[in-house]
Amino acid sequence: MINALPDEGIPAEQVLAELRELRAGDLPTHGGRLFAYVYDPALDGLDVLAQAAHAISSHVNGLDPTAFPSLLAMENALVGAAARLLNGEQAAGSATGGGTESILLAVKAARDSRPDLTTPRMVVPSSAHAAFAKAAHYLRVALDVAPVGPDLRADPAATAALMTKDTVLVVGSAPSYAHGVVDPIPQLAGIAADNGVRLHVDACFGGWVLPYLKRLGADLPDFDFTVPGVTSISVDLHKYAYAPKGVSILLHRTEELRRPQYFAYAGWPGYTMVNPVISSTRSGGPIAAALATLRTIGDNGYLGLAARTRDAVSVLAAAVEQTDGVRLFAPPETTVVCMAGEDTDLFVLADELAARGWHTQPQMAFGDLPPTIHLTVTAAVAATAAEFAPALAEAVATARSRGPVEIPLPGLTPEMITPGLVAQMAGRLEGMAAVNSLLNVATPELREALLTAFLSVLQRPE
Ligand SMILES: Cc1ncc(COP(=O)(O)O)c(C=O)c1O
Repeated sequence: MINALPDEGIPAEQVLAELRELRAGDLPTHGGRLFAYVYDPALDGLDVLAQAAHAISSHVNGLDPTAFPSLLAMENALVGAAARLLNGEQAAGSATGGGTESILLAVKAARDSRPDLTTPRMVVPSSAHAAFAKAAHYLRVALDVAPVGPDLRADPAATAALMTKDTVLVVGSAPSYAHGVVDPIPQLAGIAADNGVRLHVDACFGGWVLPYLKRLGADLPDFDFTVPGVTSISVDLHKYAYAPKGVSILLHRTEELRRPQYFAYAGWPGYTMVNPVISSTRSGGPIAAALATLRTIGDNGYLGLAARTRDAVSVLAAAVEQTDGVRLFAPPETTVVCMAGEDTDLFVLADELAARGWHTQPQMAFGDLPPTIHLTVTAAVAATAAEFAPALAEAVATARSRGPVEIPLPGLTPEMITPGLVAQMAGRLEGMAAVNSLLNVATPELREALLTAFLSVLQRPE
């Protein structure tokens, strides 16, 4: 147990030693063997630089850019760089705390651009990131989900069929997180423009790497402001720009389109609050760290990192293709390798890979889609990719001999789920394969209830 408020303060060295010990229990954020959560360029000295930059600005408050012009200058520089990368000649934007915040704000801007509507709606492909469902929920915008086509991409016809007079926003991904494929943005933007509504491109994941992959010759559809009808784009710097966590950029095609993103309030006795983003007080640390990261890597540096990432993707994809018992589930056209199983239980396989030091992300069955394993590939993987094929072959062979973990769901419904029940269940399940197999047979609603209760068990004060 950690006592966060000891009677007497603890010496700095001891505090740091404790933190290091805690961190030792985490998954490895470096080393090219963790395929989710972290983005690692494997550049010597980059962490030290970003930490130093973070420290310089961590106490600066973005609440008032006139008090801290350094932060305003840094934010404008980041937004300008993103705008140039994504061909937004007239673009205006903001630095937010992450992809979800950028998406919430893109949805808010679209909603508030139509104050005449009582039930604004947005059309998203079923592959869109869960952050759009969160935005719909927080902002009371109705969510119309268009099924994706057999190629896992947004289906323009299904999107067009859902357009109504209340639609304020259409969404496409470049690429989708789960499968790493790029939606047909020109067609989606055409539909949005024909209906006079906004089109948001969620390039949170890929926005900083796709332009470089294209420069390297990848045959990918246009997805940025060169496409008429694209009105906003989100791109996370804490993903493929390799900045420390806490920075995404939301761009609008024009300053006028950005206007309804802002919130202003003077109806209280304190300062007039004018916030472009959700937080009011915000630290300059992540923004300074992101700026330092961009400036030290540079445009050519990002091109080189994209080449290393592309090469690593090819090596991993070839490993999947060569291995009996797994197959590529989606074309590895960006930075994701997504595999499905053939007579191999993927949840057992994920455990076997983890036992060999490779940490992947299992994805549950969804609608007609089978369970898959997702690998987010970053430049660091170039150094380890060649070791993946033998580990995969061994892990598949072991998973096949173990067979699936059969976990019956004893007639549970979401209403029956309590933190106590989930704590009991968790105590009886051995290994992640058992947990994932149980979640996989649960309906999405039951899965939400189970994991919510589980998180509630985890989040107990000490
Ligand atoms: C396509 C896409 N959109 C949005 C997000 C949300 O980003 P964040 O986790 O920074 O909120 C992610 C995260 O992986 C993503 O892949």
